[in-house]
Amino acid sequence: IPVASFDGVVFGATGDLTMRKLLPALYYRFRDRQIPEASRIIAAARSRHSDEEFRGMAAEALRRHVPAADLSAETVEGFLAHVTYVAVDGAGENGWDDLTALLDERPDQIRSYYLATSPSLYGAICRNLSEHGLIGERSRVVLEKPIGHDLASARAINDQVGRVFPETQIFRIDHYLGKETVQNLLALRFANTIFERLWNADVIDHVQITVAETVGVEGRGGYYDTSGALRDMLQNHMLQLLCLIAMESPLSLDADAVRDEKLKVLRALKPIPAHEVPHCTVRGQYVAGAVDGKPVPGYLTDLGGEARSHTETFVALKLELMTPRWAGVPFYLRTGKRLPQKMSEIVVQFRSSPFSIFPAGSFGREPNRLVIRLQPQEGIRLEVMTKEPGPGGMRLRATGLDISFEETFNQRYPDAYERLLMDVVRGNATLFMRRDEVEAAWAWADGLLQTWAESPEPPRPYAAGTWGPTAAIALIERDGRTWHEDLG
Ligand code: BG6
Repeated sequence: IPVASFDGVVFGATGDLTMRKLLPALYYRFRDRQIPEASRIIAAARSRHSDEEFRGMAAEALRRHVPAADLSAETVEGFLAHVTYVAVDGAGENGWDDLTALLDERPDQIRSYYLATSPSLYGAICRNLSEHGLIGERSRVVLEKPIGHDLASARAINDQVGRVFPETQIFRIDHYLGKETVQNLLALRFANTIFERLWNADVIDHVQITVAETVGVEGRGGYYDTSGALRDMLQNHMLQLLCLIAMESPLSLDADAVRDEKLKVLRALKPIPAHEVPHCTVRGQYVAGAVDGKPVPGYLTDLGGEARSHTETFVALKLELMTPRWAGVPFYLRTGKRLPQKMSEIVVQFRSSPFSIFPAGSFGREPNRLVIRLQPQEGIRLEVMTKEPGPGGMRLRATGLDISFEETFNQRYPDAYERLLMDVVRGNATLFMRRDEVEAAWAWADGLLQTWAESPEPPRPYAAGTWGPTAAIALIERDGRTWHEDLG
């Protein structure tokens, strides 16, 4: 869908997110002719640079983060012609007249203000935008996560931003919602009658959500150590995945219809009382090990050697939802840094038949599973039992009915930010988090964070390159279940 001409102002334009994600995403949209001629990308940061200097930095970022096959000198030049730089102290006083003059040149454009800065500056930047008369009906503000580090700080940020922007003009990014495979969850669930009929506690035994990363903290230790896996991944990305798996059908794809249903899931999360935290949660921190055959240091070394830290780089949890559809169905979630492979998947395991005509013992009998592979090797596999060929009798084996998205669609998957940035210009907030969602997710996470903070127990060590502490395996095996292993 084409978008209208826009001025996209990016605060924090010299930072890592802009260079690694935003500029490459905008480049691809330009290459695919989705950036109208009169649009400008206005890079804003405190340091002084000429347009030419900043374009040089942007060109370097594209060389680093876009595959060479997708870069052509002519397209890069065309794209950079849309990029302008302005030195502005977002939270301070300098540079605002220059930004105002620039924006006044094209008063009718859609304006998006992307805050790729520390969340502690969101309030001050929004106040400045308002005081300089830069907010109108066609303006929107885009907030990156983390929105706060607990419920109180999230509310404070939402209040500050909400004082100058109405909620309909606030776009809170959770980039997982922009991933093609995550959007596909809506199609899978609500465009296929076969699954929706089976989607409840009568038929489903449990659900697993795994988001595994091989990277460590990669120079982001300063931020990460104040955050940890629960705040960095689980409170947002993984709870959003849970929402899409567990929610009731929205009345339409309208932003509020979808977000109303997600909110109900977040509000139905059963709090984990302090005495159950040791049984239902596992925190881990990586120590030195090997990933992809290469030795890697432990978390404390990554932080700078001397540090002592109780920040978790791995978390596994057992959750329950208090809804008629899901009562009694456990959701097992795990995420961590320095795990053996980068892999995100959702596994819906159906109940085993209480009775089977196939004898147990040497004959395999596995429950059916639906495995939704979010990344990489995106696809969907339904594991069904089949008879192994041969005269030896009824020997069963789980095999997969597979859809590989790569083979089926044979086209490049746009990065999540490409979709989300264009949705901001379109004014479509379906894939963005509403204030009440963010706050409901924090309200649930706060209880757990508090219990952990009061616990003298440090996170359990796990060697880099393993699937987390053994306690995470015990967490699910205690219930007679196992983490799903890829059948390949
Ligand atoms: C970010 C987290 O939100 O998501 C990072 O802050 C994490 O710590 C990243 O590495 C993972 O995103 P993706 O798209 O690589 O799965």
